[in-house]
Amino acid sequence: MKELSMHILDIATNSVRAGASRILITVSEDVINNEFRFDIEDNGKGIPDDILDTIKNPFTTSRTLRKVGLGIPLLDENCRLCDGFLEITSKVGKGTTLKSMMVYNHIDRPPMGDIVNTIIGLMTSNETIDIGYKHCYNDNCFEISTKDLQEELEDVPLTSVSVIQWLRAFLAESLEELRV
Ligand SMILES: Nc1ncnc2c1ncn2[C@@H]1O[C@H](COP(=O)(O)OP(=O)(O)OP(=O)(O)O)[C@@H](O)[C@H]1O
Ligand SMILES: [Mg+2]
Repeated sequence: MKELSMHILDIATNSVRAGASRILITVSEDVINNEFRFDIEDNGKGIPDDILDTIKNPFTTSRTLRKVGLGIPLLDENCRLCDGFLEITSKVGKGTTLKSMMVYNHIDRPPMGDIVNTIIGLMTSNETIDIGYKHCYNDNCFEISTKDLQEELEDVPLTSVSVIQWLRAFLAESLEELRV
């Protein structure tokens, strides 16, 4: 996978498929410690132990149309290639937490990609799921969630064009401000 935002989309889609009502995405660009991390936590149905044991193997999938699941194995491979790690903990009936790390300035670390549109796409196509997004650059962080947005917006739908335009500008600006 060429971009980190694609990995984030893939892992968050697993959480959506697991029936989560809340998904928290945390991205951390820790330049001081030379670490890029992203964590995704959900309250979905969880992963049974037998699947969890082999989940980094591309033949593990609950898909029925094809036999190989690729999202987690590809992320695992990229993390290891970048001298990092992928850690998944899960409890059936409670949820799943995935933590990933890559060395920030590793030559093989994929670029961030279009994180703004990835988050907006996730939020607008899963309006009933409370999606939280926190992004940190060193100690500077900002945070947003579907629930907070919906409270602000009252009756205006998250999917309306003006809201999406505003959200796109707000996220882009917030990400830029983290770096100053
Ligand atoms: N957050 C999660 N909650 C519950 N089960 C999960 C979660 N993430 C992954 N799984 C389980 O692990 C399997 C492997 O996930 P992976 O992302 O590698 O492949 P996939 O989603 O099946 O296929 P692909 O990602 O290629 O579309 C899934 O099929 C699902 O059964
Ligand atoms: Mg997947």
